[in-house]
Amino acid sequence: MNSNTPSVVSTDLNPEKLPAHVAIIMDGNGRWAKKRLLNRIKGHEKGSETVRTIVRTCREIGIPILTLYAFSTENWQRPKSEVTALMSLLKKFLESEKTEMLDNNIRLNAIGQTERLPENVRKTLYKTMDLTKKNDGLRLNLALSYGGRSEILRMVKQIAIKVKDGHIDPDLITSELISEHLYTGDMPDPDLLIRTSGEMRISNFLLWQIAYTEICITDTLWPDFGKDEFVQILKDYQRRERRFGRTGS
Ligand code: FPP
Repeated sequence: MNSNTPSVVSTDLNPEKLPAHVAIIMDGNGRWAKKRLLNRIKGHEKGSETVRTIVRTCREIGIPILTLYAFSTENWQRPKSEVTALMSLLKKFLESEKTEMLDNNIRLNAIGQTERLPENVRKTLYKTMDLTKKNDGLRLNLALSYGGRSEILRMVKQIAIKVKDGHIDPDLITSELISEHLYTGDMPDPDLLIRTSGEMRISNFLLWQIAYTEICITDTLWPDFGKDEFVQILKDYQRRERRFGRTGS
């Protein structure tokens, strides 16, 4: 389905109960390609098209923050040819979507060890982030060379240094202080985490931030994921009762 096709279900969403932050583990590109006897890279290419569709859908629906797990710290261990292809796809995506981001008030942000990205990708990323930094519409957060444990390690080191230098009293270390020292420091925690392609695991994604996040795992492979299923998941989310550890009453 084309992303411009009007969705019959989108109008049923309650605008008052939209998640402020949706995070997605985009999984299944390789399996999508394998099923078609194609090279894995073709799956990633098709997956980039889904990224476009879902970003557009979030903007249309009015979701404030979308975080996409595009490349994990563990993904560096994939074959060199696949890593190179993913980096080049990322650069292509940033270049091709620049105008769309500028025209549609999208602010690009990255979380993760972006310093590890190849120089040409890093430059394009930082340039696009800078160009879009004043936009206050959808915030598109790309997790790049991201790992939840290394993010926590980085936060612990930053706080330890501040304690050592006398800037923080250990008795005043709170959950809020920890959150502020993560890459997502100025964002609310995700309300909804979606994982495509059926695996029941978190894969080192946003470990601290998803403490009370609603989780939805769909069997659909990421390249086959689309606007209608996304809207159905949002409708299901709106029917859930969020308790944050309390009782329902
Ligand atoms: C998981 O599929 C997906 C990735 C490791 C990368 C996600 C990348 C994209 C969707 C495309 C490029 C991204 C952007 C932002 C333009 P997998 O390869 O692990 O699939 P498998 O589990 O079926 O092998």
